[in-house]
Amino acid sequence: MHALTPTRLSLALAAAGVAVIALLAAPQGLEAQGMEDDNPAVLWSMRGEELWATPVGPKQATLEDCDLGLGPGVLHGAYAQLPRYFEDSGKVEDLESRIVTCRMTLQGMSREQAEAGHFSATGEDSDMEAVVTYVVEQSQGIPMNAPSDHPAEQAAYAMGKEFFYFRSGPHDFGCVTCHSQDGLRIRLQALPNLAKPGGAAETYPSWPAYRVSQGTVRSMQHRLSDCLRQQRLPPVAYNSDLLIALTSYLAQESKGAPITAPGLKR
Ligand code: HEC
Repeated sequence: MHALTPTRLSLALAAAGVAVIALLAAPQGLEAQGMEDDNPAVLWSMRGEELWATPVGPKQATLEDCDLGLGPGVLHGAYAQLPRYFEDSGKVEDLESRIVTCRMTLQGMSREQAEAGHFSATGEDSDMEAVVTYVVEQSQGIPMNAPSDHPAEQAAYAMGKEFFYFRSGPHDFGCVTCHSQDGLRIRLQALPNLAKPGGAAETYPSWPAYRVSQGTVRSMQHRLSDCLRQQRLPPVAYNSDLLIALTSYLAQESKGAPITAPGLKR
């Protein structure tokens, strides 16, 4: 949504170096690209890897024993099977909420500490977005396969789908208002058609993504929160049931699509 103002541009350039100049000169097809040497997201992934293995919190523990669904410490392929129901928390969790759970249980943080700085702010890159980038990268090329056997997974999908088509707020907008036609654009931004079969599969597996216009990596929950803001709805809490439900809907709709994240987007 943001125009590429000189400040944003220089921020992006500072973060990314010369590689971005070439990308800006040829913005077409950016969305189609996955992680490549010239995707600045590699810096987030490296920082995420370091954070993953750094002991912090009251228990001075690392995240290395975090169970993302495939067993403690198993990262390879874990993102392809999220969101999913977790016995220990009794909830459907996406990657972001699961990392918060691990920070609380393994590292002994309060929820407030575990969720602090979940989105990057001006001049402050989020640790969560770095960790998410690192974890998702371990599933690159693996087809999405978010489980849907558990009733709670089915309920999350159903709630996400219902909300997708539900119109509300001062403009009577739903996700469907902006995301159900081919070839729609707002200013320079392409609006993917998420309502057609296979629509979600074209974008969901490319998140998190490095946003050239914002000079930082953005997570799926950030993307969805920003769309809810564009829908003129009041702010939705991080890791809220609504964000997990929307993520469950998009993830299950993306079944079979290989993960290309971290993406690279305007
Ligand atoms: C008022 C219009 C509007 C509404 C309503 C809206 N979005 Fe969006 N959405 C956008 C725009 C604009 C972008 C591209 C933004 C950008 O590139 O910065 C976008 C991008 C996205 C993307 C990422 C696509 C990509 O590039 O990979 C997803 C996923 C998405 N929206 C989902 C949703 C969902 C789910 C809802 C409902 C909760 C929703 N949107 C509601 C305008 C909207």
